[in-house]
Amino acid sequence: MIAIRYHDSTKHHFSRFAPSLGYLDWATQPNPFRRYDGAVVRELPRASLATTVPYTALYDPPSQRVDEASGLVPQAIDHGSIGEFLRCSMGLSAWKQHGQSRWALRVNPSSGNLHPTEAWIVRDGRVCHYAPREHALEERCVFESRTLAEYFLVALTSITWREAWKYGERAFRYCQHDTGHAIGALRFAAAMLGWRMELLASWSDAQIATLLGLDRDADYAGAEREEPECIALVTTQPGYGIRDSGLDPDPDVLVDAARRATWRGRANRLSSDHVQWPLIEAVTRATRYPGIGDKGSGNRDAATVEPRTSGSRIPDPGSLQPAREVILRRRSALAFDPRGVLQRDALFSMLNRLQTFAPPWDVIDWSPQVHLVLFVHRVQDMTPGIYAYLRDVNVLGEWKSAMRGEFLWEPVEPANQSPRTDHPAHSANLFLLVPIDAGSIANRLSCDQEIAEDGFFSLSMLARFEEPLRTHGEWFYRRLFWECGLIGQVLYLEAEAAGGRATGIGCYYDEPVHELLGLSGHGWQSLYHFSMGLPVEDSRLTSEPGYEWEMTSMSNSRLPTPKD
Ligand SMILES: Cc1cc2nc3c(=O)[nH]c(=O)nc-3n(C[C@H](O)[C@H](O)[C@H](O)COP(=O)(O)O)c2cc1C
Repeated sequence: MIAIRYHDSTKHHFSRFAPSLGYLDWATQPNPFRRYDGAVVRELPRASLATTVPYTALYDPPSQRVDEASGLVPQAIDHGSIGEFLRCSMGLSAWKQHGQSRWALRVNPSSGNLHPTEAWIVRDGRVCHYAPREHALEERCVFESRTLAEYFLVALTSITWREAWKYGERAFRYCQHDTGHAIGALRFAAAMLGWRMELLASWSDAQIATLLGLDRDADYAGAEREEPECIALVTTQPGYGIRDSGLDPDPDVLVDAARRATWRGRANRLSSDHVQWPLIEAVTRATRYPGIGDKGSGNRDAATVEPRTSGSRIPDPGSLQPAREVILRRRSALAFDPRGVLQRDALFSMLNRLQTFAPPWDVIDWSPQVHLVLFVHRVQDMTPGIYAYLRDVNVLGEWKSAMRGEFLWEPVEPANQSPRTDHPAHSANLFLLVPIDAGSIANRLSCDQEIAEDGFFSLSMLARFEEPLRTHGEWFYRRLFWECGLIGQVLYLEAEAAGGRATGIGCYYDEPVHELLGLSGHGWQSLYHFSMGLPVEDSRLTSEPGYEWEMTSMSNSRLPTPKD
């Protein structure tokens, strides 16, 4: 299997890193902004919407969001709300400056701030690329008739070269993490506006490519290609299950309309020169999703998320803050202050968000494949140590037999809660494996990064690996990373809401993580690390709002910012 070969080849070892150039070629640094020169540019409205929607409402099942008294009604889908949707998911969150260098940060995080992910929308018989710097849509094509004009689709693509420029062969993994983060960012922005959003398994990657014009060779002459990742339907309809209700548009009809349309614009070239990574090209081809036509049931082979109403009694630290502020405030921490301590309740509340009964988990249609190994450093009333958090408790027996025999597997109950909880999903899901000061272990495993040691906790996301790839196909490799990115996106927002800050960690030593846990073979693989703590500000950096028209509403502030 190419996906497994790629994965093994791109592991970091104590003795050597995954193949890369080994230095940064500044002369070929990719332009972070893709543009389609010659396309009609339509500026997006700048008005803020849904400013009073509380952060916790992001996790309400869509059917619970219709509450006219509190103003929690879905926004109509129009030019203005689409602008707000994109601004609060894929837009710019800040401009940073240090000396002569000035760079943009975005609402969605990205490994190395390289941003391989591009966003597209299809609406009103038009296919448009989102230009985040200008906060504008570039109209790539208009259909001959207003084919399926009433649908609102959002799609994501990757320009793999942006990550490969810095990270070499491991870059494909980061593009997939970033796609997962972007799916999460879009789902949260949709939730803020009272909308549902579901990835559509009925579309093959080839169909997405034709719809977005990615297969139009002449439009990319000399420019880096975009790889289709996913397409989602966004609606104002309450309830669950767009995918299964026949409400999704027929891919063949839209693909046919795209083929007959008149296209405008040519992709800009992002780098003057490129390094080829043949294994990235091979894994890209091998993991393309063939769609339902070829696969019988596509993603639906995997268990569908069952809608359930959340009955959590865990206090929620972020409950009163406006969702929009938390979303736009999200940043990666560069360093943590080891004096910061997280409340025990807050940790349980965060873990509870990773259970799949509510948004953002309705955006995907497979059951949890990714679970957590936590390195708990500074959580009030919790023994420091290595813990397991199972997003599906049925995995318990499997993990016990796959991991070291000496692990304790001691269940940890949330504080202030009687054993008769009406929320059994999370109370039995956290287990102490080893009481130990795991700071230096976490630091070493995460490529010797102090952010893995100095915070409240850090973690490794362990994915069921070989079995889903063999059962569903190699295309599922990408989805495992998307699930990790989604977990990361939830935790990024949870950190902000709790007064802390988080950082995704793509750099870690793969096999040493498995050895620590006693794992062998390809049954489970560590796919992403993550950390959270009290951030330390980097006072050398100055910060400006993402858009000049927001200058008056946000003061010029100094905030911690990330760099790898
Ligand atoms: C997939 C992924 C991997 C990352 N890996 C690391 C890492 O190993 N070390 C680090 O300090 N930051 C890491 N980051 C954080 C990025 O550097 C950060 O997201 C980027 O600089 C943009 O800054 P922002 O998140 O504040 O918008 C990672 C982020 C992502 C999404």
